[in-house]
Amino acid sequence: AAMSPLRGRLAGRHVLVTAGPTHEPIDPVRYIANRSSGLQGFAIARAAAEAGAKVTLVAGPVNLPTPFGVTRVDVESAAQMAAAVEAALPADVAVMVAAVADWRSADAAQQKLKKDGSGQVPPLALVQNPDILAGLCAHVQRPALVVGFAAETENVIGHAQAKLARKGADWIVANDVSGDVMGGTRNAVHIVTASGVESLAEAPKDDVAQALVERMIDALV
Ligand code: CTP
Ligand code: CA
Repeated sequence: AAMSPLRGRLAGRHVLVTAGPTHEPIDPVRYIANRSSGLQGFAIARAAAEAGAKVTLVAGPVNLPTPFGVTRVDVESAAQMAAAVEAALPADVAVMVAAVADWRSADAAQQKLKKDGSGQVPPLALVQNPDILAGLCAHVQRPALVVGFAAETENVIGHAQAKLARKGADWIVANDVSGDVMGGTRNAVHIVTASGVESLAEAPKDDVAQALVERMIDALV
C-alpha cells in the first residue's frame, strides 16, 4: 500500500474500534447472527494505525486478517463486546462499527436442543442486549470523540439523526444497506453530526476509512 498521507497525525492517540457481527448463543451449537462482514471496521482500524494511533480492535466473529500494528481482541457475543470495550478504556476516539445483535436468547440452553418427535417447535424467547455505544457515551471515561455507525434500509439520514440524539454520539456514520453493501467492498456513507450532514462519494471501504480517519484528526485538534 502507498504510504499513508495521514502518517503520524494520530501519534500518541488511542483509537478503539469495534467491528463485525456478534453471535448470540441459542444452545452450544446454534446462534443468532447478522450479515456484517467486518470489512469497514477493519479498514478503519488499519487507517488509524497507519496514521500512528495505538489501535484496539474489538472484533466479532469474522475471518479477516489483523491489520498491521493493531491490537485485536476477539469476542463473540454483545456482552463480551461490551466488556472488551470497557477494558480497553481510556481511549481518545471510539468508532463503533460493529453490528451488535439487538437481542439475545433469554435463556441459552446448556445442551443442544433436540426435536422431541411430536413436531412441537421450541420457543425462542429473546431479551434486548445493552447498547454499547450509548453506554460509552454516558461513561465517566467517555472518549473525546465517539462515532457510531448505522446501517439503514430506508430514511437513512432521518434514522441516523435520531440515533445521534438518542445515544449521545458525536457522529453517526450512516450507510444505506438496501443494496449489497454488507459484505461488499464499497460503501457510500453520510457523516451525520449536530452541525449537519456530509455525504461521501461511494468508494472502496479502504478509501472511506481513510476519509473518516482524516475527519477524526480534524475533529481532535
Ligand atoms: N450499538 C451498540 N450496542 C447495541 C446496538 C447498537 O453499541 N446493542 C451501536 C452500533 O455499534 C452502532 C450504533 O449503535 O454504532 C447503531 O446501531 P444500529 O443497529 O443502527 O442502532 P440500534 O439502536 O440498534 O437501532 P435499530 O433498531 O435500527 O437496529
Ligand atoms: Ca441494531
